[in-house]
Amino acid sequence: MDLIESYKEIDEENRLQSTLSRRVEYLTTINTLDKYCFSGMKCLDVGCGVGIYSLYLKEHNLDVTSIDLVPKHINRLNEIIKQKNINIKTMVCNALNLSTFKDNSFDIVLCMGPLYHLLNNSDQNQCIKECIRVVKPNGIIMFSYISPFSVFPCAIRGDINRISNELVDKIIDNHCIEFNSPYCFWTDNYFHDPSEIEKILINNKLEIIDHLATDGQSIAFQNTINQMTDAEFDIWMRYHLKICRNKSILGTSNHGLIVTRKKV
Ligand SMILES: C[S@@+](CC[C@H](N)C(=O)[O-])C[C@H]1O[C@@H](n2cnc3c(N)ncnc32)[C@H](O)[C@@H]1O
Repeated sequence: MDLIESYKEIDEENRLQSTLSRRVEYLTTINTLDKYCFSGMKCLDVGCGVGIYSLYLKEHNLDVTSIDLVPKHINRLNEIIKQKNINIKTMVCNALNLSTFKDNSFDIVLCMGPLYHLLNNSDQNQCIKECIRVVKPNGIIMFSYISPFSVFPCAIRGDINRISNELVDKIIDNHCIEFNSPYCFWTDNYFHDPSEIEKILINNKLEIIDHLATDGQSIAFQNTINQMTDAEFDIWMRYHLKICRNKSILGTSNHGLIVTRKKV
């Protein structure tokens, strides 16, 4: 319920398109989707938000099913589907229980949201195991996470009154902030160190085939990036795509994306 309440205040629909610096995450993600998602494949988008990637994949002729815990997001996606007269199956559904879906039934599963909203390792593992169960052997699962090393600067840039030793300790030592904490600046959030999330996925017997910083340095340098011309932004994107897999960039990125394969 906390998550549903928090997202009432958040404009998820425009999050990735409102500024150039935010577009970096979107462009980097679709650049990665293009490598693994092909016409005719069956995709489950878990934690789809208002479906920015579901809609992209539908445009590329995939068979898309989109689920999210927040009814506001699914309702808005349903409106867009109706306006565009396209066919995407949607459902309000918790990533912790995908029992509506059969074992081994999707070529691709996107899990780009739930892991950074689940506060403990047990729930995170359950979500990962459900994604593994529904994807076909050799199928692809993509997981997004938020790095602890970008969060503190982002939080205090938004409001300098948030600065406190307690906030530093929560983010860096505990890796999580609960909705009802006095230090909460968004909602229930868990922050994964890039090497920690790799270990969790490997422990779940997934093969890691790609790991990239989806926004990299773009949020830190947003004031410069947001004033770029189209030509300058093209150069920034070329630079970002060249460096976004470098280990020293991963932790400094706000979002990370890991592409995994279910072993046979
Ligand atoms: C920041 S949005 C990301 C949306 C989209 N996947 C993207 O990458 O832009 C995170 C989404 O994950 C959803 N979410 C979080 N926990 C979830 C859960 N346990 N089950 C299903 N959806 C969940 C939220 O409701 C929200 O729509």
